Amino acid sequence: MTRPPVIVTGGAGFIGSHTCRALAQRGFRPIAVDDLRTGHADAVKWGPLEQVDLADTDRLATILARSGAKTVIHFAASAYVGESMQHPLSYYTNNVATTVSLLRAMARCDVTRMIFSSSCATYGIPKRLPITESTRQQPVNPYGRTKLMCEEIIRDHLTSVGGEFALLRYFNAAGADPMGTLRERHEPETHLIPLALLAAAGLRPPLKVFGTDYDTPDGTCIRDYIHVSDLARAHVCALEYLEAGGASTALNLGTGEGLSILEIADAIERLTGHPMPWQPAPRRAGDPPVLVADPSAARDVLGFAPRLSDIDTILRHAAPHFGLEVRHARVA
Ligand SMILES: NC(=O)c1ccc[n+]([C@@H]2O[C@H](COP(=O)([O-])OP(=O)(O)OC[C@H]3O[C@@H](n4cnc5c(N)ncnc54)[C@H](O)[C@@H]3O)[C@@H](O)[C@H]2O)c1
Repeated sequence: MTRPPVIVTGGAGFIGSHTCRALAQRGFRPIAVDDLRTGHADAVKWGPLEQVDLADTDRLATILARSGAKTVIHFAASAYVGESMQHPLSYYTNNVATTVSLLRAMARCDVTRMIFSSSCATYGIPKRLPITESTRQQPVNPYGRTKLMCEEIIRDHLTSVGGEFALLRYFNAAGADPMGTLRERHEPETHLIPLALLAAAGLRPPLKVFGTDYDTPDGTCIRDYIHVSDLARAHVCALEYLEAGGASTALNLGTGEGLSILEIADAIERLTGHPMPWQPAPRRAGDPPVLVADPSAARDVLGFAPRLSDIDTILRHAAPHFGLEVRHARVA
């Protein structure tokens, strides 16, 4: 079944490229819109690539009008917390101003449906766990603030034009396409699982563990890791939900299970036979000890539940891209 085209900003990036694959598998035609500042042209395999900066409203409007798309899935952003603290204006420009530019282009073409990549970073340091969608959003860094501002701008604009939206707040994306056709390639890499795998493969120095004295069972930070192909599928669920007339929504995308850094180190060693060398480092400002989602709203609203997000499956799909063989993983 051939279904309508969908514009995917950031479609050459990690989560965007996996989502293009998931869309194509469900019969949609993904059109990636990406200026390749951190993305990779060779990750765009399931539809055309329009190489354009989202700041260019006129070109966006031309692409939108020509495509006939009725939905935009908006991944394109700068996404490094540390960098956002050093260069906040770049983040307000590339995340907030470009979202306004994109919404203006959509308005010109009467496109009124958006699915947006938000983040658990909008919650800051939560007082209670797990984090639900009604947990107060109090971001503690410019990156998180840009995501919260975008949520509010999208909500205000699309409500004013009678459109609809899904604001999807991801926890930690990890893993890689099970078929091996895509992988995580951030430069510089700051995400824990690729850094840990690179350290285990001897391709990088030992992993710096920022804080070993948190109030967690082993003293290291706990995060909620969701497989990127599960995340991608959640976007297709959100698209089908909105197309079927579902009300606009904001949803957490996580598993509800947390893993500490040292638990990940143990899993890597167990699965690959390689120890993951690490060294303690001071805590980083603004790093919450534990971030774990309450995933029940996504299940209730979208009928979405992760299928690949146990740590063995995440590592089984990611490790080969870092030259590590996984010998003992449970098969999901
Ligand atoms: N990776 C995670 O764990 C995670 C967690 C929460 C939220 N997110 C959000 O998910 C989205 C995707 O993250 P990712 O990890 O795939 O990042 P990524 O860097 O791999 O992908 C972002 C893509 O956007 C493109 N892009 C950036 N600015 C652009 C612009 N002005 N014009 C055109 N293209 C532009 C980049 O070239 C890149 O291909 C981001 O919005 C990020 O904030 C990611």
